[in-house]
Amino acid sequence: MSTATLPAPALERVARPRHYVMCPPTHFDVRYAINPWMRPGGPVDLDLALRQWGELVAVYERLGHRVDVLTPAADLPDMVFAANGALVLDGRAFGASFAHPERQREAELHRVFLQRAGYADVHIPRHVNEGEGDFLVVGDLVLAGTGFRTDVAAHREAQEFFGRPVITLELADPRFYHLDTAVAVLDDHTIAWYPGAFSPGSQGVVRTLFPDSVEASEADAAVLGLNAVSDGRHVVLPSAAGALSAQLAERGWLPIGVDLSELLKAGGSVKCCTLELRDARRS
Ligand code: ARG
Repeated sequence: MSTATLPAPALERVARPRHYVMCPPTHFDVRYAINPWMRPGGPVDLDLALRQWGELVAVYERLGHRVDVLTPAADLPDMVFAANGALVLDGRAFGASFAHPERQREAELHRVFLQRAGYADVHIPRHVNEGEGDFLVVGDLVLAGTGFRTDVAAHREAQEFFGRPVITLELADPRFYHLDTAVAVLDDHTIAWYPGAFSPGSQGVVRTLFPDSVEASEADAAVLGLNAVSDGRHVVLPSAAGALSAQLAERGWLPIGVDLSELLKAGGSVKCCTLELRDARRS
């Protein structure tokens, strides 16, 4: 029988169980402005923020992922954005050093948490870096943002620390001040991104490395639609990013929309709330 007459098999994306660290927005507030999303003094519904965050945790757990909880501190209103506290890869932890004094003390709380979780030597960074806000792991590569927060010197520091190629990308639009607001890692080979967030040279770098990427519209990027978390099959993203969800579904991923409207007032969404712990590579 000729196989030419059979329909093409549907693309089956494969999920890998993940281990996340998250911090409840118990003390969340918008008290200062360190990115263009933040309007201090505006209304924040704390109960709603907590409920929405709890729904995100429930989604991850329903998908079979493990969520560990970092204890929030009363005077750190942005601590819910756990992704900024470290980069954990190959079973090793690279600590953060925040650009703004308002968040600086979060770094130490992450270090202590990670040490207790069994990461004996959490690297104390020499240069400013905001963890997974600006470092994103795609297969063997680490994409690294700079321009607003993370110092390019931290990219070299991370490359030496992990022995992985770290690719510098220059962010050029202040709305997209962290790399994870402009790039979503979909699997070990594929990203979604908003080209307008990057310098022309860095757009060229992304197109060279990921010719098969998903390009998000400005409208979807502007609701932080790219601030998404994928397990390789399911992509958890802000529900307002409707066209991006459709693009992902068309390419075989399963989008799961969540509403984090309160946290968006501080310029964060799904990915910002989610730090991933990655084990040592099995050889
Ligand atoms: N208000 C926080 C800040 O500006 C939001 C951090 C969002 N986190 C992220 N991974 N993009 O630092």
